[in-house]
Amino acid sequence: MPDQVLLRVTNLKKYYPVKSGLLQRVHAHVKAVDDISFDIYKGETLGLVGESGCGKTTAARVVLQLQRPTEGTVLLNGQNLTQTPDKELRSLRTQMQIIFQNPYTSLNPRMTVGAAIAEPMQVHGIAKGREASERVGELLEMVGLNRYFAGRYPSEFSGGQRQRIGIARALSVNPSFVICDEPISSLDVSIQAQIVNLLKRLQQDLGLTYLFISHDLRMVRYISNRVAVMYLGKIVELGTNKMIADNPMHPYLQALWSALPMPDPDREKTRERIVLRGDVPSPINPPQGCRFCTRCPSVMQICREVEPPLRELEPGHQVACHLYD
Ligand SMILES: Nc1ncnc2c1ncn2[C@@H]1O[C@H](COP(=O)(O)OP(=O)(O)OP(=O)(O)O)[C@@H](O)[C@H]1O
Ligand SMILES: [Mg+2]
Repeated sequence: MPDQVLLRVTNLKKYYPVKSGLLQRVHAHVKAVDDISFDIYKGETLGLVGESGCGKTTAARVVLQLQRPTEGTVLLNGQNLTQTPDKELRSLRTQMQIIFQNPYTSLNPRMTVGAAIAEPMQVHGIAKGREASERVGELLEMVGLNRYFAGRYPSEFSGGQRQRIGIARALSVNPSFVICDEPISSLDVSIQAQIVNLLKRLQQDLGLTYLFISHDLRMVRYISNRVAVMYLGKIVELGTNKMIADNPMHPYLQALWSALPMPDPDREKTRERIVLRGDVPSPINPPQGCRFCTRCPSVMQICREVEPPLRELEPGHQVACHLYD
């Protein structure tokens, strides 16, 4: 594995059993994540974008081993997390942290802000007592809050402030890799940019590596170095943010872009909207062949029969589509 790769995900799958009847027999599986592979380089932000239900959060959970994957491997700094026993994983958890979508439910309302930020440090034996309080003060200031907020409760803070607290908590154990799972989607638009810019600044100051999850293509493109596009449990396209924006190749990604208004009025006038027919199919019974075949404006016979593999079509640009066979 090249030195600059921090995280390597290979053929990762997560199937959830669907049970029914009196005996609770498993009669099907939700294929939430179905064979995805990607690398994340040290110091970069990889964006993961796709519609609701396509498997982004599941991917995050199995990458971190908060849930064990059905199949596949996750290497962090060359160490195979999928074969690391739970006990040993605990100490590795300081290296990888997650910032959740909803700052209203992710903080315990009965715990002071200071206690919430100090908790991971105590759990991992990094700091306690006076040393921990000192570090809490530093962390609060690092995320743009007053160090004297430590004694207050989450209910006294706005959504944006709570998300800053969530970020301070995640950073308290000095992680090198942080997954941001829709960290801004529950916040007011006016606050979103502040949090994204805070995440960017912290990345530079602390040398962090991010997996940034969102359904907002523009936001992902703004914050990421490279972007992976997911559809129904699969990665359909992966490339630098420039490739994803200037040369989208998968018809799904082209449709996502076409749905967004252009800031430039001339380009907005000539924008051709690709309207996708139908709904996203169920991950319990995904379509044969290409998963996008039921909605693809360019569908061909082969698409309904053969699943297109993710292939590199130009250096650093991978696409899973039969149009380029
Ligand atoms: N514990 C579970 N048991 C069964 N099915 C699950 C479970 N967790 C998620 N799923 C299903 O797996 C699929 C992927 O869900 P996931 O939450 O990963 O999507 P997502 O891309 O994060 O969506 P969103 O943008 O809404 O957060 C969905 O169909 C979901 O219903
Ligand atoms: Mg999610």
